[in-house]
Amino acid sequence: MSELVSLTRDGEIGIITVNNPPVNALSPGVPEGIAAAIKQVKTDDSLKGAVLIGAGKTFIAGADIREFGKITSGERKAGIDFLGVLLAIEDCPKPVVAAIHGTAFGGGLEVAMAFHYRVAVPSAQVGQPEVKLGLIPGAAGTQRLPRLAGVDKAVRMCADGNPVGAKEAFEYGIVDRIIEGDLLQGAIAFLREKIASGEKPPKTRERDDKLGDDASNVMAFIVAREQAMKTARGMMAPLAAIDAVEAATLYSFEEGCAREARLFKECLFSEQSKALIHVFFGEREVSKIPDIPRDTKMFEIKKAAVLGAGTMGGGIAMNYANAGIPVIVKETQQEALDRGMATIRKNYENSVKKGRFSREEMESRMALISPTLSYDGLEDVDIVTEAVFEGMELKKQVFAELDKICKPGAILASNTSTLNIDEIARATSRPEFVIGHHFFSPANVMRLLEMVRGRATNKEVIATSMALAKRLKKVGVLVGNCYGFVGNRMLHQYGREAQFLVEEGAKPQEVDGALYKLGMAMGPLAVGDLAGLDVGWRIRKEHKHLEKPGVRKPLLADRLCEMGRFGQKTGAGWYKYDENRKPIPDPEVEKLIEQIAAEAGIKRHAISEEEIIERTQYALINEGAKILEEGIALRAVDIDIIYVNGYGYPAWRGGPMWYADTIGLKKVYERVRQFNEEQGELWTPAPLLKKLAEEGKTFADYDKDNQ
Ligand code: NAI
Repeated sequence: MSELVSLTRDGEIGIITVNNPPVNALSPGVPEGIAAAIKQVKTDDSLKGAVLIGAGKTFIAGADIREFGKITSGERKAGIDFLGVLLAIEDCPKPVVAAIHGTAFGGGLEVAMAFHYRVAVPSAQVGQPEVKLGLIPGAAGTQRLPRLAGVDKAVRMCADGNPVGAKEAFEYGIVDRIIEGDLLQGAIAFLREKIASGEKPPKTRERDDKLGDDASNVMAFIVAREQAMKTARGMMAPLAAIDAVEAATLYSFEEGCAREARLFKECLFSEQSKALIHVFFGEREVSKIPDIPRDTKMFEIKKAAVLGAGTMGGGIAMNYANAGIPVIVKETQQEALDRGMATIRKNYENSVKKGRFSREEMESRMALISPTLSYDGLEDVDIVTEAVFEGMELKKQVFAELDKICKPGAILASNTSTLNIDEIARATSRPEFVIGHHFFSPANVMRLLEMVRGRATNKEVIATSMALAKRLKKVGVLVGNCYGFVGNRMLHQYGREAQFLVEEGAKPQEVDGALYKLGMAMGPLAVGDLAGLDVGWRIRKEHKHLEKPGVRKPLLADRLCEMGRFGQKTGAGWYKYDENRKPIPDPEVEKLIEQIAAEAGIKRHAISEEEIIERTQYALINEGAKILEEGIALRAVDIDIIYVNGYGYPAWRGGPMWYADTIGLKKVYERVRQFNEEQGELWTPAPLLKKLAEEGKTFADYDKDNQ
């Protein structure tokens, strides 16, 4: 046995405790320890059975994810014969029980399913979330789960990766008893009952009563595949997981395991899995800020206010209410306030309809939101998030007002998507308390929260903001202050190329189609129509003075706006929309494109999908490299996390910078250089991209070198 696993006793019952903080992951030593403990239970005549339990806050929460990278990089050979360990547990002649609290995910559930029985506390969760890392269960999870839960449930759990609570797990047959009260005592009592009953310990792998028949299974797999192709478009792991569960219904347990192993290996060595693991660690990495130690003092956030109840203000207020923080929503117009509150209510009602929470819960969240037209009550809030129209003069005026009203120590945050935080901060007497909290639309749904650090923003304000992001269930990423910050500054280049491609000959649906195929949630032009083309139009007007004469600029979006085509909200933009908001290519737009191209002297020609992808992606990557070099983003991975969580970038491609690494920076740089020759200064290669390409390095290397 190892230090990680101990065997103690309660009379004739062995108690095997896994103690590998913080989450009892299956790191090297843990499976070996469990195997040794089971062996001892088997051979010790004074023991009649055993319970496996996790020390601390959880059962075995899953595999040690760092191990996967070590295996694929060749740093470590595949570990011990884990499948063999599970067989040995199952073959133990004495009954053994897994006692689950916290989470039994992935390898944790696979261990539990090899035990003869499983008991759980009501708050426990079980699941096979491997697909979220581009993997499938690799230790017979796809073979044992359908034998316990039935094919329908197992295929869903393995393909979507979502956990189920103890109650459902009990109904499915994964858990044999729910233990109210002390888990260990409950598990021991359960085991004693089983020993007294003389029941032969059941082996999951020998069960086949839930494996269904061909007719019903065929449907289950068709439905699962259709679902996976829709919700996990482009991802191979969910389909592999479905194939593996299907193998359980077609072949013996041993053959099923062999098939699962082959599929697991394919997934493990895939680019997709490496990208998803990069994103998994990246989401943790972004919370580390080199000059702000973890023990930095933080302010307490007990009460908040939001200015503006428009598209963003309403969603931001919901985030506070969802976290249980009372929030004042201030507007200037009664009508806008009523509209904003009605939208909030409608959003909550939709959640109630979908069964996400009860009507009672909805009312208690609504009760936390106080609408107002005056500044009354703002004098004692701990944070204000401003989400009024995007315009510097208005923002300055609003911040000057807040400066007069808010108490010392209150955080003054702006949700601006492009404006200079330092300039906004200068409108106050306390620039050190001003910061950007850039939420993404819809703010109650999107996980990204770009935190914009002004020149004066103090460390406590940043630390508090990053902790607040977590409380609001967001991924906070700290960025520097520049036009558009990280996300929108890059998006600007991406959108620019999308429009140039259309001017040069691609149809809007060809540009959007190619990027959708790449895995983007939506193409850039369709996104423009959804967000409202007038938003960018207003921003461009605001920044007109910054335009450089002689540099090519997109011509189409402004013209569409001048025609009143703002996108979905006006029924027409890049596309026209039917009553179901389905985009339909519009001959009028095509005529306009031809006309504008002719006016500008652009010769139109056929454009390949490859060019669409290279031009748009390399524009993102080249700008990302500049941002990185300027220190606006702390790490390349920060940029990836921004794009995956705020811009619908496919997580299985790892984000734009990781995607660049997978293509090879040499190739990316070479193309950027060519575009620079063809298209001029907008494509000036980022010096960092050039440097890394010449050194044969990646952005991931850059992050490592700069740790
Ligand atoms: P919106 O036009 O939907 O809402 C703005 C609201 O602010 C209006 O209801 C208006 O009545 C109100 N307002 C104006 N002056 C005010 C004042 N002095 N006090 C209180 N309320 C006032 O605009 P939206 O889209 O919500 O944008 C708000 C901010 O969020 C802007 O800075 C925008 O750049 C930013 N943003 C917008 C995103 C989007 O996708 N719409 C995404 C991220 C940031």
